[in-house]
Amino acid sequence: MTKRACVIGFPIAHSRSPIIHQYWLRQLGIDGTYEKREVRPEDIESFIRGLPGSVYAGCNVTLPHKEAVIEVLDHVTTKARRLRSVNTVYVRNGQTFGTSTDGEGFVENVHATIKDFSVAGCNAVILGAGGSASAIVGELIDRQCNSVTIVNRTRSKADLLAQRFGQRVRSSEDRSSALRNCDLLINTTSQGMNNSAGPDVTLELLPPSAIVCDIIYVPLQTALIKNAQQRGLRTVTGLGMLLHQAVAGFELWFGVRPKVTQELFDIVIRDIEAGA
Ligand code: ATR
Repeated sequence: MTKRACVIGFPIAHSRSPIIHQYWLRQLGIDGTYEKREVRPEDIESFIRGLPGSVYAGCNVTLPHKEAVIEVLDHVTTKARRLRSVNTVYVRNGQTFGTSTDGEGFVENVHATIKDFSVAGCNAVILGAGGSASAIVGELIDRQCNSVTIVNRTRSKADLLAQRFGQRVRSSEDRSSALRNCDLLINTTSQGMNNSAGPDVTLELLPPSAIVCDIIYVPLQTALIKNAQQRGLRTVTGLGMLLHQAVAGFELWFGVRPKVTQELFDIVIRDIEAGA
């Protein structure tokens, strides 16, 4: 029987998830489909409650439903509950389950890009304190990161985020000292999106071994990434996080763990460039 999954959001036209999952379905020869479904906020409860009796094995969840689905799912992982965000839903034994794979996507991408680096034991600095920052901080802590310093335009939001994660996470306005001791710098703000100026950080303060990451993937090479490369620092771009966060969902719905290949990167890059 054909297995089916989808991505739900409102609006949904922009989603690149179908390109990723349809590539894996083709590549692995699986009889399955993955499509976009526009679900309005007022319909989210009936959609999720109807999943067990529907054609779908599960779905990805994108804006604006990532928090709202928590209330209507039968089971939510501790991780997703802590982040107040679900991006992957699956059905088992007639019940709905929700989890968050965004943080896992980030860390897997860093590890896949920089083979001799492990987030275990590292000191990270995160720019921004929104939903993406929250998912990444949670995953870094779960993977035994030594410390995370959150730097944000609105200090109070950085404080609130830090408080949710215990002693290894703190907020700071002193960028300089945070950068001097930083192994992994991560931009989660929207600065740099669509070729706008990058975040205001003095990259010279970073140790030469530091890794600079941006989770923005349009453009593929942000101002921050280009500056870091010019200074000889190692970099991790944002597209891989999008691809790696999709791996767990595919496995839950279709039963095979797919691989993030260069061919998949190239397909998604072509789509981004066509839309740019
Ligand atoms: P996401 O879900 O992608 O993390 P978000 O929740 O809107 O998006 O969070 C965006 C983060 O980028 C916020 O921390 C925001 O800072 P504020 O908390 O001060 O709003 C930060 N951000 C967005 N635009 C920014 C800018 N121009 N300068 C500095 N920080 C910015």
